[in-house]
Amino acid sequence: MDIVFFNGEYLPKDKIRISPDDRGFLFAEGIYEVIRWYRSFFYDMDGHIARMKASLEKTRIIWPAAGSFPEIALELIRRNMLEDQPALVYLQVTRGAAIRSHAFPKPPVPPTVYSFARGMMPDNNDPESGIRIMLAEDIRWKRCDIKSIALLPNTLSFQEALDSGFHECAFVRDGKITECSHSNIFFVSGGSLYTHPETEHILPGITRKNVIRIARNAGIAVMETPVTINMLAAVSEAFLTNTSGEIVPVTLIGEQVIGNGQPGPITLLLRSEFRNEINSLQG
Ligand code: PDD
Repeated sequence: MDIVFFNGEYLPKDKIRISPDDRGFLFAEGIYEVIRWYRSFFYDMDGHIARMKASLEKTRIIWPAAGSFPEIALELIRRNMLEDQPALVYLQVTRGAAIRSHAFPKPPVPPTVYSFARGMMPDNNDPESGIRIMLAEDIRWKRCDIKSIALLPNTLSFQEALDSGFHECAFVRDGKITECSHSNIFFVSGGSLYTHPETEHILPGITRKNVIRIARNAGIAVMETPVTINMLAAVSEAFLTNTSGEIVPVTLIGEQVIGNGQPGPITLLLRSEFRNEINSLQG
């Protein structure tokens, strides 16, 4: 039985009881985080904590123990005997349980805090293959910078992509490609890297931020400028970034084959630089 963290305690998962009055259940009113464990360390814990705290602040959810997430995450890895394998730790925080009302509970109630760990099989060890992504209108709201648990537009669009034979869905807002259902997206054009700027239309991905740093250190120019659908024909490479997949080459977007349909040299270079960083952190 998995051991999970729930409101200050470590418990077997089947002992968890969440109130039907929880505002996460009633209003999807909560935030989440996902961090990757690499056998001996969490990648960029500081970045994940900073984003979690920003999401809490923007949603006005108060979790005084937010700074304890590194201890919780490590304890979950230990208690579930995941130390020696790649794993993900999820954290979900909602405004808590209270009689249904659009107004915030008064007096405030404690947040509901739930965290769990699970082992993962890395699925990105084959740089020869690339994935196909669908284009769809960005039907999400205007605060995509918050890592909100309200993910219906994301799951609907992702499932539509799967049902249509694609691996992921890229959102288009006013002709500009923003990001994907659960990843950020980068393009290579004229030897430079392009990705949507950190605005309220994308999640500030932790992998995105680190890939930008790694690319600049490798001498690659990075433009935080959106790519429009009209520019796609001029794109020579594309890839996705997220915590679980790291850097995933993209070889088809909608009907547009990217480059020669194979992962390109800058994508492969960045994958190898990212791997080098992981290996050096692993010691
Ligand atoms: N998703 N954009 C969206 C909409 C996301 O949901 C995610 C992450 C990202 C990439 O962020 P990061 O590099 O910090 O993982 C971008 C996670 C993995 C998830 O929902 O499972």
